[in-house]
Amino acid sequence: MLRLVLAVSLDGRLAPPQGGAAQLGGVGDRQVLEEALAWADGCLIGAETLRRHGSTCLIRAPHLLAQRAASGRGHQPVAVVVSRSNDISQDLHFWQQPLQRWLLTPKRSPLAQAFDRRLDLDSWSVALAGLADQGLERLVVLGGAALAASLLAEGWIDELQLTICPQLLGGPHAWVPLEAAVHSGEWCLQEHRQLAGEELLLRYRRILINGAGG
Ligand SMILES: NC(=O)c1ccc[n+]([C@@H]2O[C@H](COP(=O)([O-])OP(=O)(O)OC[C@H]3O[C@@H](n4cnc5c(N)ncnc54)[C@H](OP(=O)(O)O)[C@@H]3O)[C@@H](O)[C@H]2O)c1
Repeated sequence: MLRLVLAVSLDGRLAPPQGGAAQLGGVGDRQVLEEALAWADGCLIGAETLRRHGSTCLIRAPHLLAQRAASGRGHQPVAVVVSRSNDISQDLHFWQQPLQRWLLTPKRSPLAQAFDRRLDLDSWSVALAGLADQGLERLVVLGGAALAASLLAEGWIDELQLTICPQLLGGPHAWVPLEAAVHSGEWCLQEHRQLAGEELLLRYRRILINGAGG
């Protein structure tokens, strides 16, 4: 089960025109992001997002940490970094964060030693089955757009959790890249919630038609 979790502007951007961190989501978004992390066994993070932000999101809310502890799960979902280049600086704060770090990459790399585990990314079907075999069945996809597009193209995203934020950003960084070919499909509204700061949570689940897609 893969849930794509993003904060997007009213015009569907996830980053400002010049790229980099948009600081889109406020307190409400942070809360629903942490709820998604609390649900997840692991998070898929595009290498560019990690390079840009330097770290990943952690669950901080005590009641969510207590819930995970009560169900015998680790404090934080495993952070699974997806990369082809394996060009990830050792100086990032990410390496100090209190979580398990896995690397999902098509090629062998000395960088793998810095991670707790490395898995092959020859195809999404094999990689996702490999993650599930190792206990990561519920995955939150934290973006960015390139990683999301790669999964959407093959129909692997089961749920979309979007926080709509009251900003217009303009520019090229749409949450689904304009050139992306996505697996067509229909989506059913699971949840909508008004959040603090004029934000709106929308959660859609993909309707499976004849077992299509992932
Ligand atoms: N608003 C939000 O909620 C949100 C969330 C996340 C990110 N963002 C923003 O999104 C931007 C970054 O997104 P992005 O689209 O540029 O990059 P991205 O998706 O974060 O990362 C792209 C990189 O991930 C790796 N990758 C992606 N798909 C792969 C695949 N199928 N196989 C192997 N490796 C794969 C590659 O890493 P290598 O380059 O290492 O090969 C690729 O260059 C930033 O501006 C960030 O702030 C916003």
